[in-house]
Amino acid sequence: MEKRIGCIGCGNMGGAIMAGLARRGALWEGWGLAAATRTAARLEPLIELGVRPCQSGAEVAKSCRYIVIAVKPYQTDAVLRELAPYLTPDHVVVSVAAGVSMAALRESCGGACAVVRCMPNTPAKVGKGVFGLCLEDPALTPEARDDVQAMFAALGVCVELPESRFTAFSALIGAGPAYVFAMMQGLVQAGATLGFTWAQSREMVAALFEGSALMAARENTPLPQLRDEVCSPGGLTIAGVNALDRAGLNGLLVDAVLAADARGREMER
Ligand SMILES: NC(=O)c1ccc[n+]([C@@H]2O[C@H](COP(=O)([O-])OP(=O)(O)OC[C@H]3O[C@@H](n4cnc5c(N)ncnc54)[C@H](OP(=O)(O)O)[C@@H]3O)[C@@H](O)[C@H]2O)c1
Repeated sequence: MEKRIGCIGCGNMGGAIMAGLARRGALWEGWGLAAATRTAARLEPLIELGVRPCQSGAEVAKSCRYIVIAVKPYQTDAVLRELAPYLTPDHVVVSVAAGVSMAALRESCGGACAVVRCMPNTPAKVGKGVFGLCLEDPALTPEARDDVQAMFAALGVCVELPESRFTAFSALIGAGPAYVFAMMQGLVQAGATLGFTWAQSREMVAALFEGSALMAARENTPLPQLRDEVCSPGGLTIAGVNALDRAGLNGLLVDAVLAADARGREMER
């Protein structure tokens, strides 16, 4: 079977993954991309990027070795059960469904092929996602493992995780964009308070996060040092940072992630 990648369910996340892969076309030369989804109109932007439309999951399975399942978590079992008769040991099913376990995926596929669990976050939509990957299925060959890692590495940063770490990953990174957007909103509000227009403020704050994130990712300098380098003694920045410290920003962020992790564990039970 050719190393094609197919997707079933091309809404926000499936559409983002397939569009991202299609845009990295050169990397996937010779692989080919195919997709099936319930509302045909959602395939149009993907077709424009060179993705082959399929009428059904079965058609995806006939031509694609790697099958990304990106329907809602509650739809995943039914979609996989319908697909199961077309799955062979050559296939690899990659589910991005939040909270659907490896055991549940294997059962829905009737044990026909290897399964991979993936937890993406929303910046995947702009090619800057962080993907948690559980590659623990013993049926996964070393070649398939490399292919799946390469596939998601083309869309952002990949972190291989045991399934037991998925809730923690979701609380920190899956939920992470919400924390970041909340912090951005506070700064945009501050900009408007200082008389910048909302639009100016938003544009400047987005660039501030992008630039700071690049520095944090590229440099080995410890974060407290990067922060202190902005704070001249007796200056304006240290006055602002002191206010953040008095409010306990670090502790608040730790509490937010722990609350999300606790809720995730509660939902698993
Ligand atoms: N969005 C995120 O930020 C995010 C983050 C982490 C994980 N995820 C996971 O990604 C998955 C998809 O989420 P989403 O936000 O992308 O949802 P979504 O936008 O609703 O996309 C789901 C797509 O699946 C299609 N679909 C439903 N049943 C189908 C079937 N039987 N055959 C083919 N296609 C079918 C839907 O068709 P219609 O267009 O007709 O409804 C829809 O386009 C979920 O499991 C979620 O847990 C999403």
